[in-house]
Amino acid sequence: MTLVTACIYCIKVLTLALKRQWGAILIIGVVSQKGGVCKSTIVRLLSREYSDNDWNVKIADMDSKQGTCTRWNMTRNDSKIEPVVKTEQYRSVKDAIGDYQKNNIDLMIFDGAPSSSTLTLQIARESNLVILPTGISVDDLEPTVKLAHELIKHNIERNHIIIVFCRVGDSTVELSEAKQYIEQSGFKVIKAVLPDRVAYRRAQDIGKSVSETNYKTLNQKASNIVQELVNLINKLK
Ligand SMILES: Nc1ncnc2c1ncn2[C@@H]1O[C@H](COP(=O)(O)OP(=O)(O)OP(=O)(O)O)[C@@H](O)[C@H]1O
Ligand SMILES: [Mg+2]
Repeated sequence: MTLVTACIYCIKVLTLALKRQWGAILIIGVVSQKGGVCKSTIVRLLSREYSDNDWNVKIADMDSKQGTCTRWNMTRNDSKIEPVVKTEQYRSVKDAIGDYQKNNIDLMIFDGAPSSSTLTLQIARESNLVILPTGISVDDLEPTVKLAHELIKHNIERNHIIIVFCRVGDSTVELSEAKQYIEQSGFKVIKAVLPDRVAYRRAQDIGKSVSETNYKTLNQKASNIVQELVNLINKLK
């Protein structure tokens, strides 16, 4: 058994345990005011891994202008990549919520749109966990922390907000300074990070998630993110 298979198996055990424990629909919102910080990447990753663990997952693609996840899923379906991931574009968060109530969905993952404060807040209000993906430059960190504070101001609980570092370069100093920046702001960032790699981009271009590249070590790094988020969700309930 390869390392990656072993890790995915380990995620399987945890998420299945979680599904029984959760007992109701789980809603994850992936949001940021900034564009290009990996919102859709994290959404695709989570949807792939949870679907692979027998959860009935739906991506609510709220980015009507770009429809990134919708387009990605069409490519995935055309190429018949397993597991099947479901995606739908909704006019409003309310419409999406109405849909899961009708369709027996276990997990709904909202893919937010950049520069939309109202939509971001609506998604956050419905979510059990709000994920803020971000790059690690100060240009990216500042608006991320600002948004996290905004969410708190609007009564989103602090322990329901988690930051994920994406497109991380090779400098350990830069990474450790970014972690410090977040910790000093009073928010939490997961340990696992998504490095900046061409292979991740190329995988998503052909309908795969960042845990489905041709490289075991990269898949493992992406799986580590899922594992940490699963552990976190487990603690929320
Ligand atoms: N780890 C990575 N390494 C290299 N490229 C990446 C990585 N993660 C994502 N990308 C690429 O970066 C681009 C932006 O990612 P993504 O679409 O997930 O961001 P987004 O926050 O959803 O953007 P938008 O705000 O436009 O919706 C995409 O082309 C994606 O393939
Ligand atoms: Mg997007």
